[in-house]
Amino acid sequence: MKANGRHYRSIWFDAGKRCVKIIDQRWLPHEFRVVDLVNRDDFVVAIRDMWVRGAPLIGATAAYGMAMQMVLDPSDLSIEESWEILHKTRPTAINLRWALDDMRRLLSETPIEKRAAVAFARAGEICDEDVECNRMIGVHGLSIIREIAARKPEGEPVRILTHCNAGWLATVDWGTATSPIYHAVDAGIPVHVWVDETRPRNQGAQLTAWEMAGNGISHQLIVDNAGGHLMQHGLVDLVIVGTDRTTARGDVCNKIGTYLKALAAHDNDVPFYVALPSPTIDWTVADGVREIPIEERDASEVTHVQGRLPDGTVTQVQICPDETPAGNPAFDVTPARLITGLITERGICEASVKGLVGLFPERLAG
Ligand code: MRU
Repeated sequence: MKANGRHYRSIWFDAGKRCVKIIDQRWLPHEFRVVDLVNRDDFVVAIRDMWVRGAPLIGATAAYGMAMQMVLDPSDLSIEESWEILHKTRPTAINLRWALDDMRRLLSETPIEKRAAVAFARAGEICDEDVECNRMIGVHGLSIIREIAARKPEGEPVRILTHCNAGWLATVDWGTATSPIYHAVDAGIPVHVWVDETRPRNQGAQLTAWEMAGNGISHQLIVDNAGGHLMQHGLVDLVIVGTDRTTARGDVCNKIGTYLKALAAHDNDVPFYVALPSPTIDWTVADGVREIPIEERDASEVTHVQGRLPDGTVTQVQICPDETPAGNPAFDVTPARLITGLITERGICEASVKGLVGLFPERLAG
């Protein structure tokens, strides 16, 4: 999608410099910085410290991290070590494990001297597949927005609430939750996006708002607690969020606060959809609340917020007393019963075993 009027992906291989380039998301929206990732440690830091974030992009970055390591050391031990080290960076998004498993399986079947080339080719494919999955999520999700638009007076926007950033920055391109929005705008359907700020790291305020602005989409930033009020007053037609891990029965683990949005949507009969590419499904897990590890991040993300001073400096300020301890669970689980539907690259389904297996019948065999 567009940044500063130019088309970007969130990650790409620079063949000339033999490095991987990413947009360092810690500085957005104030500064647009592209950085080079060269060795495995760079990739570990970039994922762990959230220079890149969002489930699909974490997976794509880890795949490239494995590929870069194959140039230095293509041994079996190096594959195993890389899997472990990269996997430890963030615990909740399943795309990380999916991408690492995929790379490990392929590389272990590949002769040593070909491993680096095969790894780069596969990492590139993982990126391209993500872009295509997200494009198809947009094509399918568009039908939901179109249907709502058809019930509204001509020219009135479909008002969509989203949480966190499940936009192109969280994927390789298009985004998951945002792809139907971009497709609707391209189809001439007016939309207005309610952007949850998404404390503590403010991915909504910093990233989704920046994406919407950069792509000319009507939007408004709201505090996390405003969603329920807007729904009660009939100001939200639809909620679309992303997910870091969806269980085989359709429970959805996503950025902290998603569950509260789902409860409010349920209470107000507002359709609540989750957009996901299939690598975000963890077929080994059923009960999301009990079985998904929830990342606990540093308390400083809660006690401090980042912003820009009038002189342009980006800095952190403390918002609570020095002695106040903080807790920081980064994700929560929305049970399937609160979800109207899952939007995948293969179509839209009910959030249930039946719904998911209907779209992915090959899983019955596995
Ligand atoms: O902690 P983050 O910023 O990596 O969390 C991201 C989210 O929760 C997204 O909603 C999710 O990864 C889906 S991205 C398409």
